[in-house]
Amino acid sequence: MDKFAMIIFGASGDLTKRKLMPALYSLFRDKRLTGEFTILGVGRTVYTDESYRSYILEELQRFVKPEEQDMELMTLFVTHLFYLPMDPAEAEGYSLLRQRLIELTDDINPNNLLFYLATPPSLYGVVPLHLKEAGLNTSESRIIVEKPFGYDLESARELNRIYASVFDEHQIYRIDHFLGKETAQNVLAFRFANGIFEPLWNRNYIDYVEVTAVENLGIEQRGGFYETAGALRDMVQNHLIQLVALTAMEPPAIFNADNFRNEVVKVYESLTPLNEIDLNEHIVRGQYTASGNKKGYREEKGVAPDSRTETYIAMKLGISNWRWSGVPFYIRTGKQMPTKVTEIVVHFRETPHQMFRCSGGNCPRANKLILRLQPNEGIVLKIGMKVPGAGFEVRQVTMDFSYADLGGVPGGDAYARLIDDCIQGDATLFTRSDAVEASWRFFDPVLRFWSDTPNAPLYGYPAGTWGPLESEAMMREHGAEWTNPC
Ligand code: BG6
Repeated sequence: MDKFAMIIFGASGDLTKRKLMPALYSLFRDKRLTGEFTILGVGRTVYTDESYRSYILEELQRFVKPEEQDMELMTLFVTHLFYLPMDPAEAEGYSLLRQRLIELTDDINPNNLLFYLATPPSLYGVVPLHLKEAGLNTSESRIIVEKPFGYDLESARELNRIYASVFDEHQIYRIDHFLGKETAQNVLAFRFANGIFEPLWNRNYIDYVEVTAVENLGIEQRGGFYETAGALRDMVQNHLIQLVALTAMEPPAIFNADNFRNEVVKVYESLTPLNEIDLNEHIVRGQYTASGNKKGYREEKGVAPDSRTETYIAMKLGISNWRWSGVPFYIRTGKQMPTKVTEIVVHFRETPHQMFRCSGGNCPRANKLILRLQPNEGIVLKIGMKVPGAGFEVRQVTMDFSYADLGGVPGGDAYARLIDDCIQGDATLFTRSDAVEASWRFFDPVLRFWSDTPNAPLYGYPAGTWGPLESEAMMREHGAEWTNPC
């Protein structure tokens, strides 16, 4: 690999220690990051190179899977780290940054200069402009920017304008780490590398689809951020809608960045615009309340005591195209749920006629396919089988594939894959400007509805439960219920 330099803005923050450094270490360990490379952390907290290295070494021992920890290798890895205390919001620091970079790399190698914005979203529009002023936006440099990209459609457009004035689109990598998950990519392999499911993958055979990404943690130490985001901006507008796109998209003729991303945008553009009824009845937002030894959201640090920020959202979406017209997609996400799970459940239509006996309410008339993204990664198909013995009783059983059988999903996690892709210049799994805007265009009415309707319901749900009961009612309209994994 050529000399490579990466500058992380927000290097003293949560994301850097939890995700970025373990990902970079995993690339180093796998020899994907080799030769002379420099990782220069930038942040407001004051560290020297030495103290930053010891801090990261300690955090690696917390956040890298124990079986992947190799003290010697980790110690070697941190010798590549450097730190510059500066406020990324202020222009002054950038000439110093440039200077430091030149010292560290002898020169700025234009082919391998990567910026990573792991700052609060309020800086996403500021940093690129300062980079430009300091002449750091070399023609082949790249920038990875975290989500949420924008606060609504207008601000996302403005951000896109700013980025376009500093970089070419091929240099901009809007990251959505769900797309870096092995299991998310496998949704495409499952659909398009097998002949047997795709003919059924449409309105004629599919009754409805659920997409669930819930967590059993609260907002941890991120009160300040979460108050400005909420579940819709934090999870739905990006991660969940990406999963909908993977489930609903058409197969590109050739799998490459442009073709894949064209198909994603087509899905977003086909989302049925939300009307009055949808806004009032097909969106359920909730906020967790104290329960047992768990705090309520409003008691969390950095959260207003009368906050109306949603920590749960369930929605019914429609896709207006030939493949999906009339098939509801129910999506939901929430903090402080009973468990952490991300899965897509595809419910096939019932058999037209039930001729077998079934007992105990377990009448397997409809097949169900569960794509489990995490944890216990795998795929489960629910099918009806005859119970052995006399008579013709049929019961639902499962056929399953577990990633554990293929050696398990690698621990390096989504960030390693995506950073590696960016270093290689492969933008396939990153969000393009038109996709980000198309997604906001769809969700903007929800944000407007909430801000214009002060009494729009926000339901409380006790921490550790499956969210407001109203979300069950939304499913019952379709004669369905959420698949709550245990
Ligand atoms: C992040 C959100 O993007 O995704 C977090 O900001 C959330 O709030 C996280 O916890 C979930 O990601 P994962 O990979 O742990 O499911």
